[in-house]
Amino acid sequence: MEDKIRNLIEDLLKEHREFLETLTRIEEDLKKDVLDKALEKLLEVMKREVEDHAIREEQELAKLTQHRFDPEALVFAHDNIRDRVAELEDLLEDFKNGKRSSDLIRREAFSLIKLVRDHFQEEENLFFPMMRGEDLEHIGGDG
Ligand SMILES: [Fe+2]
Ligand SMILES: [Fe+2]
Repeated sequence: MEDKIRNLIEDLLKEHREFLETLTRIEEDLKKDVLDKALEKLLEVMKREVEDHAIREEQELAKLTQHRFDPEALVFAHDNIRDRVAELEDLLEDFKNGKRSSDLIRREAFSLIKLVRDHFQEEENLFFPMMRGEDLEHIGGDG
């Protein structure tokens, strides 16, 4: 059981690192003149890979750790990201129809990427240690 939890978290951490690399590349492209392409790529990564990852956390990982972790905060964070992805998708449509400026959509895309980075940080610094049953005293924070 504990091994299973550890291995799954290791796997999810590996995916975080891969996603972060991909998101950094997309961020670079967003700064250039390939905005449409970079946005399509961002939406695709978020809706496929990052969504699959989130579902594994909500289902597989939450099930294994239910004796010590309430997944509500995790699901809340994922739903927040899902909402932002849907908003960006709508904005992209508007942008293509000339109804939105490239500055606005760029800002929204950067802000979504930041939200995802912050979420990974929260999982790595708080949720995953709790799920592994680590002593909260060692996790830090101000509480
Ligand atoms: Fe997550
Ligand atoms: Fe994650």
